[in-house]
Amino acid sequence: MSSWQENTSPCNWTGIMCTVVHICRRMPWVVTNISLPGAGIRGQLGELNFSALPFLAYIDLSNNSLHGPIPANISSLSLLSYLNLYLNYIKGQIPCNKLSGFRPQEFGDLINLVQLVLSYNSFSGPLPANICSGGRLQYLIVTSNILNGSIPRSLKTCTSLVQLQLQENQLTGDISQHLGVYPQLIKMILASNRFFGQIPPNLGASTKLTVLHLAQNMITSSILTILSKLSNLVELKLDYNYLSGEVPPEICSLANLYKLTLSSNQLSGSIPTLIGNLSNLGYLDISGNRLSGLIPEELGGCTKLQSLKINNNSFSGSLPGAIGNLAGLQIMLDVSNNNLSGVLPQQLGKLQMLEFLNLSHNQFNGSIPSSFASMVSISTLDVSYNDLEGPVPTTRLLQNASASCFLPNKGLCGSISGLPPCYSIPVAAHQKGKILGLLLPIVLVVGFGVVDVTVVIIILTHKRRKPQESVTAEARDLFSIWNFDGRLAFDDIVRAIEDFDDKYIIGTGGYGKVYKAQLQDGQLVAVKKLHQTEEGLDDERRFHSEMEILSHIRQRSIVKMYGFCSHPVYKFLVYEYIKQGSLHGTLENDELAKELDWQKRITLATDVAQAISYLHHECSPPIIHRDVTSNNILLDTSFKAFVSDFGTARVLKPDSSNWSALAGTYGYIAPGMY
Ligand SMILES: *[C@@H]1O[C@H](CO)[C@@H](O)[C@H](O)[C@H]1NC(C)=O
Ligand SMILES: *[C@@H]1O[C@H](CO)[C@@H](O)[C@H](O)[C@H]1NC(C)=O
Ligand SMILES: *[C@@H]1O[C@H](CO)[C@@H](O)[C@H](O)[C@H]1NC(C)=O
Repeated sequence: MSSWQENTSPCNWTGIMCTVVHICRRMPWVVTNISLPGAGIRGQLGELNFSALPFLAYIDLSNNSLHGPIPANISSLSLLSYLNLYLNYIKGQIPCNKLSGFRPQEFGDLINLVQLVLSYNSFSGPLPANICSGGRLQYLIVTSNILNGSIPRSLKTCTSLVQLQLQENQLTGDISQHLGVYPQLIKMILASNRFFGQIPPNLGASTKLTVLHLAQNMITSSILTILSKLSNLVELKLDYNYLSGEVPPEICSLANLYKLTLSSNQLSGSIPTLIGNLSNLGYLDISGNRLSGLIPEELGGCTKLQSLKINNNSFSGSLPGAIGNLAGLQIMLDVSNNNLSGVLPQQLGKLQMLEFLNLSHNQFNGSIPSSFASMVSISTLDVSYNDLEGPVPTTRLLQNASASCFLPNKGLCGSISGLPPCYSIPVAAHQKGKILGLLLPIVLVVGFGVVDVTVVIIILTHKRRKPQESVTAEARDLFSIWNFDGRLAFDDIVRAIEDFDDKYIIGTGGYGKVYKAQLQDGQLVAVKKLHQTEEGLDDERRFHSEMEILSHIRQRSIVKMYGFCSHPVYKFLVYEYIKQGSLHGTLENDELAKELDWQKRITLATDVAQAISYLHHECSPPIIHRDVTSNNILLDTSFKAFVSDFGTARVLKPDSSNWSALAGTYGYIAPGMY
């Protein structure tokens, strides 16, 4: 176009419209509309950098000569409401939508169709009956729409099927009648529909099947023994149906099974003793059935179990001690609402990773074993509605437990409010707590490239300080600058680094670039800008974590944050500028490393230890940095240390255990985090 001249504002170009937006007190012009139908444009859509035009709301490029795919980064246009690419030569996938108004019959005549994926839209109506009429269909994936009607007729003979996912729709019909023989099938998920009939006997021929989910339907029948032929099965979910009969011992031969959920059915009989053969089982949920008999010792053989739910059945007898062998049990053990009786086994104390234990609504008697005190991860323990007596365990996480988890019983006592005090408090546990409270040794090992230094600091008293007003990370357009007598402003920063020009970059961190900005009054600040990435969610979490934490804390050896801008499009943090750079960089530099003599190194280690002690013991709730490496310790010209980069830091919730994914740099992760 003649009006498209370099050095002129695109806002004046033919087909382009702009508007003024407010971003953190700045009001730039941004491009919002591209309207160029029938303009003779050639080339690929991917040549346009959509990430650079985040405010686009309207694109009409219909009737041009564009070819190639629709670039995935078009999905970063969160404000886009109109997109017209009609009459071009575009091919490939349409990135993930909320399309509706499906006219199913139009798909039926596609006799070469191999793959149809329509998931997470609002398509309604029935699927076309002749969808597999060409006999080539391999993938039919229509998860989460409002489809109704029954399984398409042509699927009965569709032997090419590899993956069938119809879950979260309103499909109906007798599945044993409408499904055929699928020798190539790897995944079948029909959960959350209105299917009825019995589990299709034909499934026995799908020997490659790894995932079978039929949960939340109205399937009757018993669990068929032919399922035991599916030796590759990893997940079998049949919960929330009307299944009856016994759990066939044959399915215990599924050596690869990892998830087995049969909950909320009408199953009867007992747990097969062969259950111990399921050596790869991680999740077992058979709750909410009519199962009875003893809980077999053999269950202790399923050593990979992370979650075990057998509650709401009619099991009787005592709880076998072998349950204590399930060392990996972490998520839950729920045996509540059965007819279990006898004393609780000491061996349960071995479940040191377990977070949730429900023993309520049974007839357990005697006292709670003292070994329960070693279940250090337990955050919920419910023993209500039993015949227990004696002291309740005093683990740290249970201190604020509700009395309703312990009452009614025959006579439990303890320090939990609502329970009567015991006459004698278990001495060992009590004294241990006291000693820990008085002496908190912190061992800090700072890796120094040349030699390691170990500093041990013993803190005898510590006072907790409340953080200042909270900053909500969710707010859409936050801008806050402080500590600068109001002189520091957004414009000043953006002008100083010429709108984030690369020449001001002084470092690139895990999730952003760091710029050095000299403000009008000569003051230097460091500005960290979040990368714009497609998979940016994790980075955003780090940004918010850092913003949230640094705006709450102040300590002489923790880098100061002066402010932040958190806008859907622009995100940056402003810090004090620390001249020398990282400890790592200093140690890499022969001259500087020599200057950093032993006296300075000891001071440095002490300063860092004090900063960490402040985070752990003076902040309430405590903050764990999780990545104290020599890269994240900054030095000023006199080698004074500042802890920085709180992107992976966590605030500890005092009332829960803290299992989290590993974060940080290997070799520097705090031992407690493993
Ligand atoms: C568009 O052009 C007019 C004159 O042709 C000029 O006054 C105006 O400032 C330009 N707008 C922008 C945003 O550059
Ligand atoms: C696209 O624009 C973004 C944002 O301005 C920029 O960071 C990125 O480098 C650009 N990509 C290309 C390929 O030019
Ligand atoms: C324990 O199980 C009972 C019965 O199944 C249930 O009512 C109760 O809410 C459960 N306790 C907790 C803490 O979830």
